[in-house]
Amino acid sequence: MPLSKSPIWEDARSYYQEKGVSAWNSNAVPNYITTNPFIAQSYARVINSFFEVHRPKRGKDKNDDTFYILELGAGSGRFAYHFLQSYFSNSEFSAQDGRKTIYVMTDVSTTTIDFWRRQPQLASFVADGRLDFANFDVLKDDGVNLMESGKTLDVYTLEAPIAVIANYVIDSLPHDFFSIENGKLFERLISYSRAIPSEENSTQQSNSEIAYSDRPCSETYYKNSVWDGVLRQYVEDFKDLNFAIPTGGIRMLETLSKISRKPVFVLSSDFGITQDTGLRQLGPRRIAVNGAFSIHVNFNALKRYAEMKGMSVLQCYTEKSSLETMGFIMRPGRRNLEPLFREFSRQIQTQGPDEFFMMKKITEKAADHLTPQNILGLLRLSNYDSRIYELCERALERHLNELDPSRQEALIDAVLQVEKMHYRYEQQRDPTVRILKFLLRLGALKPAQEIAHRNISFLKKTEVGRQTYADIFGRKAI
Ligand SMILES: C[S@@+](CC[C@H](N)C(=O)[O-])C[C@H]1O[C@@H](n2cnc3c(N)ncnc32)[C@H](O)[C@@H]1O
Repeated sequence: MPLSKSPIWEDARSYYQEKGVSAWNSNAVPNYITTNPFIAQSYARVINSFFEVHRPKRGKDKNDDTFYILELGAGSGRFAYHFLQSYFSNSEFSAQDGRKTIYVMTDVSTTTIDFWRRQPQLASFVADGRLDFANFDVLKDDGVNLMESGKTLDVYTLEAPIAVIANYVIDSLPHDFFSIENGKLFERLISYSRAIPSEENSTQQSNSEIAYSDRPCSETYYKNSVWDGVLRQYVEDFKDLNFAIPTGGIRMLETLSKISRKPVFVLSSDFGITQDTGLRQLGPRRIAVNGAFSIHVNFNALKRYAEMKGMSVLQCYTEKSSLETMGFIMRPGRRNLEPLFREFSRQIQTQGPDEFFMMKKITEKAADHLTPQNILGLLRLSNYDSRIYELCERALERHLNELDPSRQEALIDAVLQVEKMHYRYEQQRDPTVRILKFLLRLGALKPAQEIAHRNISFLKKTEVGRQTYADIFGRKAI
């Protein structure tokens, strides 16, 4: 059957429903590149620029005093937490002046949403009225029902511009595969045999078998003038090609275009391809099986679709290695979008999340040779990412006895920021105990006590946590 019609998508959805936030433990489903504090800061800057461009003129739009930022398929919540930390605690985000901004984390997995609602670090943003949650299916739902405020965001209620984030979402939505051979279009059908999960293999995905076969098909495959328009463009532009049509991604854009009457800005990253040159080099398309299923995203097709629908598209003009990002502005209007394009170019295209990911890989290779100055630079550049801290710890340890007071102070400050930025969803890799030990070794007792106090219920859960707490408070065990 065509891939978009296969039960694979139902199974992928069940996977997230069953696993909840544990889907992201130990990277079973890759997520570092789309959720670290660096990408969150880059997105915060681009979205701030979008709201600046669309800031209501004085005296107008009096009823719309709230900006909404919607995150689709928000998964572990790690991106959201980093975004909230960057956006709401930083004076550089001027579009917020006098205007309320509410971030809405959404997903289809109710298990995941239940986790967010119990997560203490998110709770403080809810209490401040800056965070809300919603069960939102990008393929089906017309509106977003906010769980905390009880409001609905849809075309009838929302008169304000809205920003939408979709990271590693399109790759989890339905696709179809095609090829063009000697100018002729073929559809690539799949056959899928579902494995029954067993004791050893708790996921169906890892045991499932997928086979592919190609057969000729018509250029009016979808019986939809725009969708078929994209297929026709490919047949006109390429003699031989292997490509996917992200049908779920297109439907997602269709759903989102109905969410507000004002401009809708979608910022989306995935492993994928934007430019024709890269597309030409792809082999026959296949499904990747990580924890769940995932597809290399053809942003090139989304761009063609969006342009046919009159959207403005923000794109990367040179090849990215691991993460492609694209922006879509629906109903762009007559405002000057130049500042937004410039910000996208600075934050995503030139020194963006993909380049940051490369820097992390370089750090992995050089970890043992880092100096305290190197470590300070890396922590600041990464926006205080705890994984970067983890990589630097051994080198830091080696230099601990030779630090002069000013460098010691700078390092303590950076490590405190790392602790604040770290989002708790997996116990295994949590840096809190290690950070506390580092602070104790440098004699920074007061901040260590503050952190230990704030995280008392977390520290209580493990023997090493209880012992560290006792060391900090002079043997007063918990
Ligand atoms: C690969 S994960 C990405 C999670 C997160 N954005 C990240 O970057 O780590 C895909 C997410 O999309 C959600 N999802 C799957 N189908 C969806 C749909 N139709 N509507 C909304 N979310 C969906 C899943 O529950 C899951 O949380």
